[in-house]
Amino acid sequence: MNINRFKIKIFSLTLFTLMLSTACQSALTGTKLEQSGICLIPMPESIEMQEGFFSFDETVTIFAEKAEELRASELLLQYIKAPAGLPLSIAGNSRENQIRLQLLESDEDGVNGAYRLSVASGIILIQSHDYEGLVYGIQTLRQLMPADVIKAGADRDSVLSIPAVVITDSPRFQWRGFMLDESRHFKGMTEVKKLLDQMAFYKMNRFHWHLTDDQGWRIEIKQYPLLTELGSKRKDTQTGGWSSPERSGEPHEGYYTQEEIREIVKYASDRGIMVVPEIEMPGHASAAAAAYPELTTRGEQIEVPVTFGKHYAAYNPANEKVYEMLSEILDEVVALFPSPYLHIGGDEVRFDHWQESDEVAALMEREGLETMADVQIYFTNRMSQIIAAKGKRMMGWNEILGDDLHGFLSDGQTRSATDLDTEAVIHFWKGSEELAKRAVREGHDIVNSWHSFTYLDYSYESISLKKAYNFDPVFNGLSSAGKEKILGMGCQMWSEWIPTVESMHKQIFPRLLAYAETGWSSKRKKSYHSFKKRLPHHLELLEASGIAVGDFQF
Ligand code: ACM
Repeated sequence: MNINRFKIKIFSLTLFTLMLSTACQSALTGTKLEQSGICLIPMPESIEMQEGFFSFDETVTIFAEKAEELRASELLLQYIKAPAGLPLSIAGNSRENQIRLQLLESDEDGVNGAYRLSVASGIILIQSHDYEGLVYGIQTLRQLMPADVIKAGADRDSVLSIPAVVITDSPRFQWRGFMLDESRHFKGMTEVKKLLDQMAFYKMNRFHWHLTDDQGWRIEIKQYPLLTELGSKRKDTQTGGWSSPERSGEPHEGYYTQEEIREIVKYASDRGIMVVPEIEMPGHASAAAAAYPELTTRGEQIEVPVTFGKHYAAYNPANEKVYEMLSEILDEVVALFPSPYLHIGGDEVRFDHWQESDEVAALMEREGLETMADVQIYFTNRMSQIIAAKGKRMMGWNEILGDDLHGFLSDGQTRSATDLDTEAVIHFWKGSEELAKRAVREGHDIVNSWHSFTYLDYSYESISLKKAYNFDPVFNGLSSAGKEKILGMGCQMWSEWIPTVESMHKQIFPRLLAYAETGWSSKRKKSYHSFKKRLPHHLELLEASGIAVGDFQF
């Protein structure tokens, strides 16, 4: 090391320590930690500070051998090489000054995503039993670095160092989801990748992609090209709120080609994120019906709606052709998304058109169905079998259980049959906790996205940062077997009233960070007091990534 370098190093160490300790002062308990200024979100399971530093300089290499280690190395290179201004490369042998990625023997009983990160002088070691864990270790390492390394493209001329530490960590829940509704307002690939980057940085792992709805069909289906040729375009857009007569006066359109979807799925998967597609059925079907009117009971030609709210078009549950078409559509969907789950929506079906249909009446007679809720369960079970035959597991909003959440079923006509396939994952969003607990008792796995705690389209007055942070996905009073059925949680960005990326960011951030910690950190480790102290450092990082945060109160 030449003397100038050495001087820079001393300077950089001092500056680094100062910078972090002001950013995250007293964020954590324990004197050493407070001094270190370590400022991680989500909070890991265990942090043990050690003596010394690891210094990033031009001699640092990455050591990786197995395929998954090499794959994770590529991500590490992308994250650190250019931003830190280092000639980082992958070396095939063990050396001094190395970042070592180590995939351990697979552990059937272990928690997916668990990892250990140890930083010492001359070696950073990230170990996990799975690829996701290596990625999480890398994200934690990034969060240990000074802010300007994460602010991609920063011009660095000093050596950067990070404090010696051992972090052992694992997620509380396997499902840590973020949903994006692109039907109401299409955002496009660049923005989706940006959101995936943020999800990854905060260890969220399920990108639930709401790709179809009344106001737009956003996924190319080659066998049914009109779905996008007609269904991805609308002439105008309602503005100003649910019953407002105002319109934007602009057409709106957009969809993803299959090529683009593959690129996004890979981008997500490299970052440890599973993309779960949502193809809405049988309701929220106006855009599909505008393209193929034969999908509905009325068979009438409609236009893609320009207003929001709950529309009437619903797939015809009595027409075998409809199941064939939906199956063929899902063949293409399944081929694009490796996710074992396929989300079919199933929420807010308006039964008016079914009620007036002779075909539906005949179906009810034939199948012994007594209520419209039974008809929806019949439809859903048919789809569940179709989806299972494609090797996937169906997931849907909790209306698929047949409860009358919206008063659309006359005279308390909720389900009379309770035979929804118990393999179906229930995405709980509305209704009493009792409904979700009943679903648990009936054998369903649950993702908890209770709207009054997790809807990102709601204002900060309605869901404050603190309320978002304090959400607990596990319902009170569940047995320990019942608790196991709660896969985790989701937060949802519905996009009726967020036409621009800027307006969307303000709804998502910083609440996403609160949900990320809720999904990842054990209850024992969660503290809003500590979160508030760690947040300002992350707000700085968000700002540097070009993300404007909402007008939130602590
Ligand atoms: C929903 O918010 N309609 C699931």
